[in-house]
Amino acid sequence: MNTLVTKVVEDVYYIGVNDRETHLFENMWPLPNGVAYNSYVILDEKTALMDTVKSLSTEEFLEKLDSVLQGRDLDYLVVHHMEPDHSGSIRATIAKYPNVKLVSNKKAKEMLQFFYGIGDENFVEVKEGDKLELGSRTLQFFLTTMVHWPESMVSYESKDKLLFSQDIFGSFGALDGAIFDDETNPDKYHEETVRYFVNIVGKYAKQALKALEKLGGLEIKSILPVHGLVWRSNPQRIIQLYIDLASQKKKNGVVLAYGSMYGNTRNMVEVLARYLVEEGVKDVQVFDASKVHKSYITKEIWLNKGLILASCSYDSALYPPMANLLYTIRGNKMTGMVLGVIGTYTWSGGGVKNLITLGEEKGYELLNDDVVEAKCAASKDNQEQLRQLAKAMAAKLREE
Ligand code: FEO
Repeated sequence: MNTLVTKVVEDVYYIGVNDRETHLFENMWPLPNGVAYNSYVILDEKTALMDTVKSLSTEEFLEKLDSVLQGRDLDYLVVHHMEPDHSGSIRATIAKYPNVKLVSNKKAKEMLQFFYGIGDENFVEVKEGDKLELGSRTLQFFLTTMVHWPESMVSYESKDKLLFSQDIFGSFGALDGAIFDDETNPDKYHEETVRYFVNIVGKYAKQALKALEKLGGLEIKSILPVHGLVWRSNPQRIIQLYIDLASQKKKNGVVLAYGSMYGNTRNMVEVLARYLVEEGVKDVQVFDASKVHKSYITKEIWLNKGLILASCSYDSALYPPMANLLYTIRGNKMTGMVLGVIGTYTWSGGGVKNLITLGEEKGYELLNDDVVEAKCAASKDNQEQLRQLAKAMAAKLREE
């Protein structure tokens, strides 16, 4: 039994749960430090639950909810986001509190029906700017469409100036005792906040910026997301980080991501990495796409201006681990990079050609004159070409 709940402010409680068992978020993104599914309860003349948790933790979650309500009925369940890591306990919540009214927007109503077979007889539909009176507190709703699902929305509580922000401002990482930003050093979550943003929200960075602009008019004292820390002392820190990330601000480093079967492409990467440093680039990072999960690589690609993609050919195309990486680079709309391309082939090619295509179709600043493609393994001439590529990349980075 775990009925541990934490007061956020008077009559507002944190009842989230940690998930330290799941290996992959969305069955795809590694969770070495777990993840938290946050949920909150407001006690007023009416009671309101702000989102639920993944079905894996329903029992623990309902025990916590029960312990906050202390025999009171649940009047409202506000559904900010329908992804099952937050909606997974809705059906069980309704079963326990059959009078509860679900509060969300039209798109969520449809998803409730199709995910869970929940009809609309107890549904309160809200639109942009609508308000819900709870007694001494009022919730106001703002749609944050496509950050990162079409039904995504946030709510603002004006008495204590609380923003219930759903996935926005979230992070990977379970909460190790500390729920609030002032109970730990938030640096601990920085890398996982960035990896979460780039891979989960990044595709919708433009919409995220729009949502942040819209919320900019609100006085926000605390941010209560559905993952990661609750920001009650310095919400500006996470807001600024999101603004920086969403605008794809870049530093002058170079990421080299490669796919290599027998080491010949890797050898080219090793040489190029050394040459880049000799040309004055201070921040060089090398990633083997066969070994490092792509979410860690895309995080660094998002943050850095220089990008070298390197691949051997495989079945006349890209080496599959590189193709997988490119899928996310394309899909997550990463922009603003200077791209260098290198690789190897043995007979028909295909690796380098596909990397060039990516650069062209995404409008990256492709260092076209300095593409290096070696037959089987790098020759002395190829090595000299790598030197030229390093010079060209370093020169581009100095232009900033
Ligand atoms: Fe945390 Fe989009 O769900």
